[in-house]
Amino acid sequence: MSLEPPPETSAVPENHVIVLFGATGDLAKRKIIPGLFHLAAAGLLPKRYRIIGSAPSAYAMATNEFRVYARDAVQQFGSNLPQGESWDRFKESLSFVAAEPDDFSALHLAVSQAEAEIGGGVRRLFHLAIPPDAVLLMVEALGASGLSENSRVICEKPFGMDLASARNLNTVLKANFDETQIYRIDHFLGKESIDNILALRFANRLFEPLWNRDHVKFVQIDVPETLSIENRGAFYEETGAFRDMVVTHLFQVLGFLAMEQPTSLGAGPLRDEVHKVFQTLRPIDPAQVVRGQYDGYRDEHGVAADSQTETFVALRVEVENTRWKGVPFYLRTGKCLAQSRQVITIGFDEPVMRLFPLSEHEPAWRGNKLVVDFADPGSIHVNFLAKEPGPRMQLDSAEMSFHYRDSFQAANNLEAYEHLIYEAMLGNRSLFTRSDGIERLWEVATPLLERPPAVEPYAKGSWGPESITRVIAPHDWCLPQ
Ligand code: BG6
Repeated sequence: MSLEPPPETSAVPENHVIVLFGATGDLAKRKIIPGLFHLAAAGLLPKRYRIIGSAPSAYAMATNEFRVYARDAVQQFGSNLPQGESWDRFKESLSFVAAEPDDFSALHLAVSQAEAEIGGGVRRLFHLAIPPDAVLLMVEALGASGLSENSRVICEKPFGMDLASARNLNTVLKANFDETQIYRIDHFLGKESIDNILALRFANRLFEPLWNRDHVKFVQIDVPETLSIENRGAFYEETGAFRDMVVTHLFQVLGFLAMEQPTSLGAGPLRDEVHKVFQTLRPIDPAQVVRGQYDGYRDEHGVAADSQTETFVALRVEVENTRWKGVPFYLRTGKCLAQSRQVITIGFDEPVMRLFPLSEHEPAWRGNKLVVDFADPGSIHVNFLAKEPGPRMQLDSAEMSFHYRDSFQAANNLEAYEHLIYEAMLGNRSLFTRSDGIERLWEVATPLLERPPAVEPYAKGSWGPESITRVIAPHDWCLPQ
C-alpha cells in the first residue's frame, strides 16, 4: 500500500539528524526503519535529514551494509516498497556508527558532519530502541557528550520495572534533558482508532451524555494475541504480560476512555486529563487478578524451568471519580491465545422497563454494546436489539458498523510508530506519556507486584486459565462472541 501525497496542510518538520540507537534490533527492523521510509515517501520527513543507525560495536556494520539491512527491513515489513526516487534519496541519508556509552566520539563526529552537510538550524532526534538496562547509560552519555543540546529523545517502554526504577529513570532523564525534550513513546497512543476515541467522544453528541456510571455497566479492554513470546525469552522472563502490556498500553487506552473533555488537544490539557484518571485509579487488588502461563512457556529459550512469569493477565480495575465510581474496567491480554484482537467494549445498561418479551434468539442481558476494534485499520460497532420482520413483536440482535477501511482513504493511514515519530519531530507531546503519569501507574500496580497471585497454566490457543470467569462475574468476556 502506498501513501497518497499528504494534504497541503500537513506540517513538514524542521531539518533533522535522527540517531537510531538499537538500529540492528527487532523493533528498528520491524517498525522504525520501515516507518521512517514510509514517512519519507509521504513527504512527511524534513526537507533535509540524515539518519544515523547506531548499535554497540559487537553489532557494528559498514554504512553500505546498513543500507542493505534497511532495504531488507523495508521490503519485509514496510507498507511501501524500497524503490524509485524516494528510496534512493532515503538510502543516501542512511549511515551507521557504532557507539558505546563510554565512547561517543565517533557518533559525535558523525552527528556534527551530518549537521554540516544539512546546513544551519538542525534538530537532533535520538530514538532509544534499546533494552531497558541500556537506557540509563545511553541517556547519561548523551548528556555528558553534549549531544543532548538542541535535541529530542524518544524513550521506549517499559519505563522501569516498578515505582522505584521508574523514578530513577525519570531522574536520570531529567538530569540530562529538559522535560520538553523527552518523548516517552507508547505506540498504542499512535494507533488511529485509539486517537479516534477522542473524536468519537468529544466531536459527537451521541455517546458522551451516556459515557458515565449512570448508563455504563462495564468497560472491557481486551487484547489477546496468538503470538508467542517470539524468541524474546530473556526480555519476557523479566517483564511478563502485566508490565509488557497492561501498565503501559492498556492503562493508556483506559486513560483516553475515562478522561474528561480537555480544554484543547494541546499536550498540557490533554495529558492533564489523562493524569487525573490515573490519579483516581484504585490500587490494584491482587484478588481481582488472574495471572496465567501458557503450557510450554518454561521450555522456551531463556526461560527458567520454574518460571513464575505470567504470559497472560486478566484483571478488574476501578476509577474512583464521580463519572465512573462503581463501573468495573476489565482488562485482559496474553500470548498464545485463541485470537489476535484489540477490542474495547462499553457495555450499556438495560432499559429501565422491559416492554418486550424475551425471545429465544436474544441474549439474556439486553444492554447495548459499543465495540471499538482498534486493530488496524479499525472499526466501530453498536449492538442493539431490533424487531425481527414479521407479524410478531420479536427481537433479535442487530449491529451498526463503521469500518475505517471502507469509509476513508486508508492510504493516508500512518502506522502507530510513524505517527508518533512524526509528532516528535514536530515537537508535539500530546500523544506521549508523562513522567508523573507513569509513576502513578506503577504506584497503582504496586500491590500486585508485591503480592502476585500464583500463575495458573492455560492451553495454547485457549482464552486463558479457567478462573478468568471469576474476575469478570457477574459479567462475561465479550470475546470471543
Ligand atoms: C509491544 C509488546 O509493546 O506491543 C508486545 O512488547 C506486543 O509483546 C505488542 O505484542 C503489540 O503491539 P501491536 O503493534 O502489535 O499492537
